[in-house]
This record gives sequence, structure tokens and C-alpha cells, in this order.
Amino acid sequence: MWLKIFLSCICSALKLTVPSHTIHGIAGQPLHLTVDYNFNATASEIQIIWLFERPQSNPKYLLGSVNQTVVPDLEYQHKFTLMPPNASLMINPLRISDEGNYIVKVNVRGNGTIAASQKIQVAVDVPVTKPIVHSEPSSGVVEYVGNITLKCTVEKGTRVIYQWMKNGKPLHASPNYTFSSNNATVLIVPVVKEDIGNYSCVVSNRVSALESEIIAPTIYYGPYGLRVKSDKGLNIGAVFTVDMGEVILFDCSADSNPPNTYLWIQRADNTTQVIKYGPHLEVVSDKVAQKTIDYMCCAFNNVTGKRDETHFTVVVTSVGLEKLAQKGKSLSSLAVITGISLFLILAMAFLFIWKRYQPHKGQKLITERRRHFQVMLIKRNVSIRSKSIPAKKLASAHTKRKKERKGSVLLTWVAHLNVSLLKIEPK
Ligand SMILES: *[C@@H]1O[C@H](CO)[C@@H](O)[C@H](O)[C@H]1NC(C)=O
Ligand SMILES: *[C@@H]1O[C@H](CO)[C@@H](O)[C@H](O)[C@H]1NC(C)=O
Ligand SMILES: *[C@@H]1O[C@H](CO)[C@@H](O)[C@H](O)[C@H]1NC(C)=O
Ligand SMILES: *[C@@H]1O[C@H](CO)[C@@H](O)[C@H](O)[C@H]1NC(C)=O
Ligand SMILES: *[C@@H]1O[C@H](CO)[C@@H](O)[C@H](O)[C@H]1NC(C)=O
Ligand SMILES: *[C@@H]1O[C@H](CO)[C@@H](O)[C@H](O)[C@H]1NC(C)=O
Ligand SMILES: *[C@@H]1O[C@H](CO)[C@@H](O)[C@H](O)[C@H]1NC(C)=O
Ligand SMILES: *[C@@H]1O[C@H](CO)[C@@H](O)[C@H](O)[C@H]1NC(C)=O
Ligand SMILES: *[C@@H]1O[C@H](CO)[C@@H](O)[C@H](O)[C@H]1NC(C)=O
Ligand SMILES: *[C@@H]1O[C@H](CO)[C@@H](O)[C@H](O)[C@H]1NC(C)=O
Repeated sequence: MWLKIFLSCICSALKLTVPSHTIHGIAGQPLHLTVDYNFNATASEIQIIWLFERPQSNPKYLLGSVNQTVVPDLEYQHKFTLMPPNASLMINPLRISDEGNYIVKVNVRGNGTIAASQKIQVAVDVPVTKPIVHSEPSSGVVEYVGNITLKCTVEKGTRVIYQWMKNGKPLHASPNYTFSSNNATVLIVPVVKEDIGNYSCVVSNRVSALESEIIAPTIYYGPYGLRVKSDKGLNIGAVFTVDMGEVILFDCSADSNPPNTYLWIQRADNTTQVIKYGPHLEVVSDKVAQKTIDYMCCAFNNVTGKRDETHFTVVVTSVGLEKLAQKGKSLSSLAVITGISLFLILAMAFLFIWKRYQPHKGQKLITERRRHFQVMLIKRNVSIRSKSIPAKKLASAHTKRKKERKGSVLLTWVAHLNVSLLKIEPK
């Protein structure tokens, strides 16, 4: 009990402090082991001693001082420096072999002797150099067929930790990504298109960290998402409706690495025929004999060995009514309008009477003729939704569009006329 009080008294009389009990030093550079001490007695003599110990070995004396005089161990004379009364030790240069525990003891003699000691654990690391990543195989792999092994190598560095990055984000182990025990190697199996990206390796230890250049493994895949587009024509599903005389350009595209080879096949009269190689096809509808032609675009990836194909139909519409409309345009407008108006009024009157007494005749013919009529109206932005087109509706559409060009007005009139004529014409 008495002894305990005595010891605590001594400890508080001399205070020896260190900023940290664990220090990470860099091999080849100087290292300061900073120590601070103070006491409140009058000292006649101050003694500082530094010892070094490795695990499973006896402590070694490094150097010591009494007052201002340093007494080194001759073996380490040039390596360790002490400048009393400052108790800090300088190690220069620091070597891997200097790793271990450093013990400092300070003794102060005044009215009796007081002492204190501290232990500092020093770890020495070699900084890492910039790592290099290799991809195996370097030539590239086919999706779902090959494996990719990414290897990270670093020339120098101790206690290296490896971390993989994909597009700047840490890569985690998953069923498709297998890491080696030290994480220096990652195996990707199976390889899928989604594995395409920028990979890099970050190596680090307690004193440094560096990232490799990015590597983007070559992965062959596809074709995916094959589709055909055209610059013109009305596309409903896989059917392109075009006017006779138009030149239509078709584009076939699919996602693939390496780029696909494309070929176009035309099917007509029970025969198929390769008509073009390459992603573009030009169809000049004038030259086309039939009204409906089936085409097929095939995309082939010559590395993955996979292919895809898509069918589409081109429907060529005749332009009889359009020609009529163009003729009407060129006629002297006022006379024509007057004539037509007059005729229309008469026709309407006649239609009204006729409809009252013979409501269902002539319906088939009307439907047939209207198809051409619709094509023409679509071109002029007149939308027709209902199947039967009463002349009244058309008249109101005409009123809405009064402000449009003269030609357009005329056209609408011609349309009126046409409808009227259709309905008048009884069978
Ligand atoms: C010296 O240290 C002792 C022990 O902590 C303390 O009791 C005493 O007051 C200190 N004296 C001075 C002058 O600081
Ligand atoms: C240390 O210095 C004190 C006075 O500052 C002196 O009395 C003492 O003799 C010195 N000791 C040594 C070993 O030189
Ligand atoms: C002792 O020396 C170290 C480094 O040489 C310095 O950082 C520290 O401030 C010194 N301590 C005193 C009390 O002078
Ligand atoms: C030295 O210690 C003795 C007894 O411990 C005490 O009586 C004396 O005052 C102390 N002298 C100084 C200078 O502290
Ligand atoms: C890919 O890895 C699997 C499992 O590790 C192995 O069975 C297969 O042979 C490898 N394939 C190639 C092409 O290396
Ligand atoms: C990969 O890096 C290249 C340039 O180094 C960059 O153009 C590309 O966008 C990067 N890809 C991703 C997915 O970050
Ligand atoms: C892992 O592989 C499976 C196929 O086995 C694939 O469907 C999936 O997209 C892959 N996941 C990742 C993250 O690459
Ligand atoms: C390997 O990386 C994983 C994280 O992806 C980590 O949890 C693990 O501790 C690392 N192993 C080694 C030996 O660095
Ligand atoms: C594969 O197709 C590309 C063009 O897409 C061509 O350059 C390459 O020579 C072809 N390779 C083989 C082996 O046919
Ligand atoms: C189309 O080809 C099939 C089989 O090749 C044949 O049975 C059929 O008679 C052919 N039809 C015509 C219209 O040529």
C-alpha cells in the first residue's frame, strides 16, 4: 500500500509523453521519434536512454546521454542522433530492419531520483510504385464463351493492399467476379457485355497509394436489338407505306462488337434473293413491279458467330387522286370554284333527297374509293377518324382551314366534290 503511493508520487513528478505509440515510417527517409518530458523538482542530473527491441529478442542499447553528453553505442553511431536535453531520437536513414519497439527512459536526479519511460512501435514500409494491369487474354473474349483474368502487379511496396475499380467505383466480389486471396487478381466468368468498362487497380500501404492506368478488356458480343429504319414512308410496325415514285433509304442497325456484316434479302414470288450487302438499302419504288414486297435484313457478327434477322414489308400506294388534285390546282381558280360550288349545292340537295329514299345503296363502292381518298387527305393533314364521312363534317373542316393556302382550300373543295360524286353515283 505504501509502495503504491510512493510510485504514483514519482510518476507525477516526471511526465514523459509521446505523440503516438505507433509510427509508420518510410524506408530510406529520416524518422523523428518525438518525446517530451517535464518535472517539477530541481534537477542535478538528467539521464536519457534509448533502447531497441524486436519481438523475440533482447532489448539493445542504442545510445544515452547525461546532461549534455551523448554516449552512443559505437555500432550505431552514425545512425541515431540525440540532442539533450531534448529527448527526441532521430533515425537516419530508416531501414526495414529498424522496425520494432523503441523504448525511451528518462532519469532525473535531484532530491532523490525520479524516472519515466515510454515505448513506441515503429513500422517501416517501402512506398508502392505505380501498378500495372494485364488482361488475359489480351486479344479479347467472346461473351459467354471466354474468361477474363485481370492481374495487378507492382514493382515495389511492402504490405500492399489491392483494390479493383470499374469505371471509378470499387469492384466487389460476386458470382461473376472471383478475387485471388490477396486481391491482386480478379477472374471474370462468365464474361457478359455488361463487363465492358474501364478497370484499374489501386495499390496502397500505410505510407502510399497509387492507381494503375485504366484497362478496357475487349469483349465481343451481339448482334442485339436489330431494327430497320427508313428516312421516309409511313411506318406501322414492320410495314412501310410509300408513294410510287419515291426513293426510300432503309437503315439496318444492331448493337454488336465487332460491327455486324449486313445483308438484304428480297422475297417475291416464292423466291428469295440477296440484293445488297451493307447497312443501307435504297429502294426506288418506280422500279418495283409489285405493290407489296417483303424484305429481310440479316445482321451477322463474324466473331461471336451469332446472327439476327428482321422482316419488313414495303407497300407502294398509287397516286391517282393526287394527280387529280394537282390538275385542279393548275386550273383557273375562280371559275372552277364557282362551278364546283354550284354543282356542290345541287349535289347536296340531290344527296339529301336521295338519301331519304335509298339509304343503303352504294355503300361498298364508297368504302373502296375512300382508301385513295384517305391517302390524299393524310398528305394534306386532314385527319379522318370515323369510317363514314358525312359531307357536313368535311364542310366544317373546310371552315377551320379557310385561312390556309389557296391551293389547300381548293383541294378541300375538290374533296367535297369527290365525296358528293361518290354518293350521287348510284348502282
Ligand atoms: C510536483 O509534483 C507533485 C506530484 O504530482 C505535486 O504534488 C506537486 O505539487 C508538484 N509541485 C510543483 C511545484 O508543481
Ligand atoms: C550535470 O549538471 C549538473 C549541474 O547542472 C552538475 O551538478 C552535475 O555534476 C552534472 N553531471 C555530470 C555527470 O556532468
Ligand atoms: C526536440 O526535437 C524535435 C525534433 O528534433 C522537435 O520537434 C521538438 O520540438 C524538440 N523539443 C523541444 C522541447 O525542444
Ligand atoms: C529533499 O527531501 C527531503 C526529505 O525527503 C526534504 O526534507 C527536503 O526539503 C528536500 N529538499 C528539496 C530541495 O526539495
Ligand atoms: C473459364 O473458367 C472456367 C472456370 O474457372 C474453366 O472451367 C474454363 O475452362 C475457362 N475457360 C477458358 C476459355 O479459359
Ligand atoms: C473509359 O475511359 C475512356 C477514356 O479513357 C472514356 O472515354 C470512357 O467514357 C470511359 N468509360 C466509362 C464507362 O467510364
Ligand atoms: C453475371 O453472369 C450472369 C450470367 O451467368 C449474367 O446474367 C449477369 O448479368 C452477370 N452479372 C454481372 C454483374 O455481370
Ligand atoms: C479483398 O477485397 C475485399 C473487398 O473486395 C476485402 O473485403 C478483402 O479484405 C480483401 N482481401 C485482402 C487480402 O486484401
Ligand atoms: C469480320 O467482319 C469485319 C467487318 O465487320 C471484317 O473487317 C473482318 O475482316 C471480318 N473477319 C472475318 C474473320 O471474317
Ligand atoms: C412456293 O414454294 C413451295 C415450296 O418451295 C411450293 O410448294 C409452292 O408450290 C410454291 N408456290 C408458288 C406459287 O410457286
